[in-house]
Amino acid sequence: MAIEREEFGSRIGFILAAAGSAVGIGNLVGFPVNAAKNGGGAFLLIYALFIALVCLPVMLAELAAGRNSRKNPLGAYKHFAPGSRRWFIAGWSSLITPFMISVFYAVITLWLLGYLVEILSGNLSSLAQPEYFGEFINSKQVFLYLALIIGGTGLILLGGVQKGIEKAAKLMMPTLFIVLLILVGFGLTRDNAMAGVAFYLIPDLSKITPSVINGALGQAFFSLSLGMGIMITYGSYMSSKASIPHSAKMVAITDTAVAFVAGLLILPAIFSFNPEVDPAELSSSSVGLVFSYLPKIFLGLQSSAGYFAASAVAAAFFTLVLFAAITSLVSIIEVPVSAVMDELGQSRKQSLLTLGGGIIVLTLFCALSFGMVDFFTDFIPYGGDTRSFFDLVIDVFYETILPLNGFLICILVCYRWKRSNMNEELYIGDESFRGSFMERYIDFALGTFIPAILLLVFINTVLLKFFTIDMIALLF
Ligand code: TRP
Repeated sequence: MAIEREEFGSRIGFILAAAGSAVGIGNLVGFPVNAAKNGGGAFLLIYALFIALVCLPVMLAELAAGRNSRKNPLGAYKHFAPGSRRWFIAGWSSLITPFMISVFYAVITLWLLGYLVEILSGNLSSLAQPEYFGEFINSKQVFLYLALIIGGTGLILLGGVQKGIEKAAKLMMPTLFIVLLILVGFGLTRDNAMAGVAFYLIPDLSKITPSVINGALGQAFFSLSLGMGIMITYGSYMSSKASIPHSAKMVAITDTAVAFVAGLLILPAIFSFNPEVDPAELSSSSVGLVFSYLPKIFLGLQSSAGYFAASAVAAAFFTLVLFAAITSLVSIIEVPVSAVMDELGQSRKQSLLTLGGGIIVLTLFCALSFGMVDFFTDFIPYGGDTRSFFDLVIDVFYETILPLNGFLICILVCYRWKRSNMNEELYIGDESFRGSFMERYIDFALGTFIPAILLLVFINTVLLKFFTIDMIALLF
C-alpha cells in the first residue's frame, strides 16, 4: 500500500511556507532598487498588475495541478499527459530547474551566513571595504558555511512537510515580518529619509520603456516561485479543505508587500548615507547590492548612531535576508526530494541522501567559480564574455528558463488537463470561486495571452543573454 501523502497542517502553515519560498533576496534588495531606478511608483503599478493579471493565474494552475495529481512536477506531467514523450521532457525541465537553482542559491545563502557571523563578531567595518567580498568568496571559510547551510537545510527537509517545512516557515516568516518593520521604522527616522521615499514612490513615466516592462514581468514571475515546480509540489501537499484561490492571493500579496515595504528601508538608508546619490548608478544585481554596497551603507550609520547600533542594524538585516533565503532554499530542494520519493519510492531520508551528494558536488563547483579553480571560473564563453560555472547556472536556470516552464504549465493545464477540470479542482474547498470574475478571467487568459507573453519573454531573454540580440530595441 502506498504511504499516505504528507499534507500541510493548516491554511496559515501553507501560506507561510509558500510565501517563505517566494520571499527571497530579490524581494528585499533587488526589487526596491530596480523599482526606484525604473520609474518608482509607475514601476510599482506595472509590477502589481503583472502579479495580478499574469502571475496569479499561473500560480493557481500550478497549485491546482499539484493538488489534483498529488505528485511532484515530473509526476504531475506524467499524470496529465500519460505516455507522451514531449511532455515527459517538459516534466524533466521542471525538475532540473529547481535542482540547479538550489545549487547556486545555496552558495548565496552561505555568503549571507558568513557575513552575518562577521557582523556579529564586530567586523562590519571590514565588510565595508571594497575588496572584502572578492576575498571572502575565495576564502576557505566558505566550505564551513557551506556545510552549515546544507546541513541545516537538510535537517529542515528531513522533518517533512509539517514538522520541517511548515514549522520552519512559522518560525522564520513572522520573525522576518517583525524585524523588517522595526528596521523600516529605524530607516524612516534617518536624516534625509524622505528623499529616499520620494524617489521610491513618485512615478516617473519617462523611465517606463519596453525593456523595463519586460524586466518587471520577469521579476514578478520569478519572485512568486513560478516555473520552478515549487507551487506544483507545495500544491500536492495542500489539504482538499483549503481554498487554492484564496491561499494563492495571500501568497502573492505577502510577497509583494514584503518587496514593497523593503523599499521603505533600503531607499531611505541609501539616501541618508548619501543625499546626492544617483540611483541610476546602483547595481541592478541583488548580489552586488547585498554584499558590496549595503555593508557600506550600514557602516555609514555609525556617524549618527554609533558603531554598535550600526552593527546591530546590519546584523538584523542580514538575519532577515538569511531567513528569507533559507525558506526559499528549503522549498526549492523539496521539489527534487519529492520527485525522488514519488518516482523511485524512496523514503524522505534516502531521497535526501541521494540528492544531497549531487547538490554538494555542484554547489562546490559553483563555490570554486570565483577564481579558486580556473576551469570553473572561465567555464564557457557566450554573450560576448567568458562566464563562470556559477554565471552559467544563474543565466540558464534562474534568468532564462522560468518563463518557458511557465508557458509549458499553462499549455499542459489548458490543453491536456483542460480548464474545466482545473476549475473543478479549484472549486474544492472554495465554492465561491464558481462563476466568479476571477474564474472567468482565468478561463480566458490562461490558455491565450498569458502563455503568449511568457513565451515572448523567454525568447527575448535567450536572444539577449546568449546572442546579444536586443529584440525590444530592434522593434521599438
Ligand atoms: N523571490 C526570490 C528571490 O527574491 C526568488 C525566488 C522565488 C527563489 N522562489 C525561489 C529563489 C526559490 C530561490 C528558490 O530571491
